Amino acid sequence: MNMATRLNKLAAVVTGGGSGIGRAVCQRFAREGASVAIVDTNEDGVRQTLDGLQTNHPECGHHTFVTDVSSSESVEKLVQDVQERFPVIPTIVVNCAGITRDTFLLKMREKQFDDVMNVNLKGVFLVTQAMSRLMVENKVASGSIINVSSITGKVGNIGQCNYSASKAGVIGFTKTVALELGRFNIRCNAILPGWIETPMTQAVPDKVKAQILPHIPLRRIGRPEEIADVCMLLATNEYMTGTSIEVTGGIGL
Ligand SMILES: NC(=O)c1ccc[n+]([C@@H]2O[C@H](COP(=O)([O-])OP(=O)(O)OC[C@H]3O[C@@H](n4cnc5c(N)ncnc54)[C@H](O)[C@@H]3O)[C@@H](O)[C@H]2O)c1
Repeated sequence: MNMATRLNKLAAVVTGGGSGIGRAVCQRFAREGASVAIVDTNEDGVRQTLDGLQTNHPECGHHTFVTDVSSSESVEKLVQDVQERFPVIPTIVVNCAGITRDTFLLKMREKQFDDVMNVNLKGVFLVTQAMSRLMVENKVASGSIINVSSITGKVGNIGQCNYSASKAGVIGFTKTVALELGRFNIRCNAILPGWIETPMTQAVPDKVKAQILPHIPLRRIGRPEEIADVCMLLATNEYMTGTSIEVTGGIGL
C-alpha cells in the first residue's frame, strides 16, 4: 500500500488541533490523505494549523471548528457542523485538547482542579461519546479513538495532582470504551507522552529542563511528530484496542 495514502477517503477529528501535538497530528493525517477537522478553542491556532496543512489528495477538505471540549453544547454543535462540512462520517478521533493548572496539593484551589478535570477528562468523555454515537448510528465499518493521556497519569508528578488525576482517568476511560465499543469494531487506545516540546512545556524555565534531562533515558525532549507517528499507528492498526502506549524516551519504566 502507498504509505502516503493510508488515510485516503477517511476523515479525522483532532481536538487541540490548534497547537503542539494536535497540530502535528493534523499535519501527519493530512499528509496521509485524510480530511481533517481541526478543533480547538483557539481561533488563531486552528487557522494557522489549516494554513500549514499539506494535502496530497485533491478530494481532501480540511475544516476548522472553534469548540470548547468541556461544554456539551459546544461539542453537540461540533458534531452537527462536522456532518454538514464533511462528505464522510469521521472515523478517526484524536482527543488531544488539554490544559495544565499546576501547583502543589496544599495550595491548589478547587477551580484549578475542576478546570483541568473538565477539559482533560470530561472533554475526552464528551467528544468520545458524541463521535462514537455518530459512528454507531451510521454503521461505519471501523473506527479509531485515540486519547492523549500522559505518563504523569501512571507515575504522578509533583505540582500536578489535578493533571495526573485527569490523565489517569483517561487511561481507565479508554479501557472501558474499548470494552464497550469493540463489538462495533471501534477501537480506543491511549498514548502516554513524556516530555514533548510544545507551547505547553515551553514555559518551563531552561534551568528546570536541564534538571529533567538526566532523568530521561534517551537524554532528550520528544518532538510532537513523534506522538503523531504513534497516532498514525493507532489509526491504521486494526487489532489494537484498550492499550496505553508510552512515548517518553524511557521515563516511567
Ligand atoms: N507537551 C507535553 O510534554 C505533553 C506530555 C504529556 C501529555 N501531553 C498532552 O498532550 C496534549 C496536547 O498538549 P500540547 O503539549 O500540544 O499542548 P498545547 O498547549 O500546545 O496544545 C493544547 C491545545 O488544546 C487546546 N485547548 C485547551 N482547552 C481546550 C478546550 N476546552 N477545548 C478545545 N481545545 C482546548 C489549546 O487551545 C491548545 O491549542 C494535551 O492533552 C497534553 O496534556 C503533553
